[in-house]
Amino acid sequence: MTQTESLPLLEALHSTPSRRFLSTDPIPDDVLWELLDAAVRGPSGGNTQRWAWIVVRDEGLKKRIAAWYRDGWNNAYGVHKERILAGGDADGGVGRRGFLAAEHLAEHLEEAPVWVIPVLLGAAGSKNPRLGSSIYGAVQQLMLAARAHGIGSTLTTLHSAHEDEVREALGLPEDALTMALIPLGYPAKGRWAQPKRRPIEEVVHFDTFGNQRSARG
Ligand SMILES: Cc1cc2nc3c(=O)[nH]c(=O)nc-3n(C[C@H](O)[C@H](O)[C@H](O)COP(=O)(O)O)c2cc1C
Repeated sequence: MTQTESLPLLEALHSTPSRRFLSTDPIPDDVLWELLDAAVRGPSGGNTQRWAWIVVRDEGLKKRIAAWYRDGWNNAYGVHKERILAGGDADGGVGRRGFLAAEHLAEHLEEAPVWVIPVLLGAAGSKNPRLGSSIYGAVQQLMLAARAHGIGSTLTTLHSAHEDEVREALGLPEDALTMALIPLGYPAKGRWAQPKRRPIEEVVHFDTFGNQRSARG
């Protein structure tokens, strides 16, 4: 189970959806270390690496933060449950299945054996709209390295309505900003399916916005 899958890079890129049904099986330390080692190979502006990667395994801490996450979930999505479920699985948005999976994660967040919380230092007051570019590449590397180990993940942010409480609970410096909360675990349900996206022809523009053509020329 902990063996690395020999997986061509492009195949991994096409088969890493959010995995929100996770088992409680522990992730071995050496595997976790490998994921973090892959993450920190990611890019940051000027290679400043003003980041910290918080590994959360403490049950009490997870429970406290999960309650804040659930509060964020309820405000952003939970209150719209009926409407979202009535909308079915039409393209765009999380859809019915996505909603139910996200609801499951919200209800079971603390059961994931490990969370990684990527943090940008000195970022709390930043007005730079491109701030995230100095960490999200690395976050994706973490998630792809997890994929190689058969470990599922989801980039989540719903804890952030309680950013101050989370910062304090994690003992972060005042000027630090949590950029995500990534629950990691071996998948309990679902598969490594290709993520569904809008057609490439619809979102690609050549030279100037609006100049679109079929992907194959
Ligand atoms: C900025 C950002 C914030 C997100 N926040 C959450 C979240 O709080 N909870 C969650 O379950 N998924 C969250 N997601 C995951 C998205 O819902 C997911 O990437 C999207 O639905 C596509 O899923 P797929 O790759 O499985 O197709 C977030 C993704 C991004 C990029």
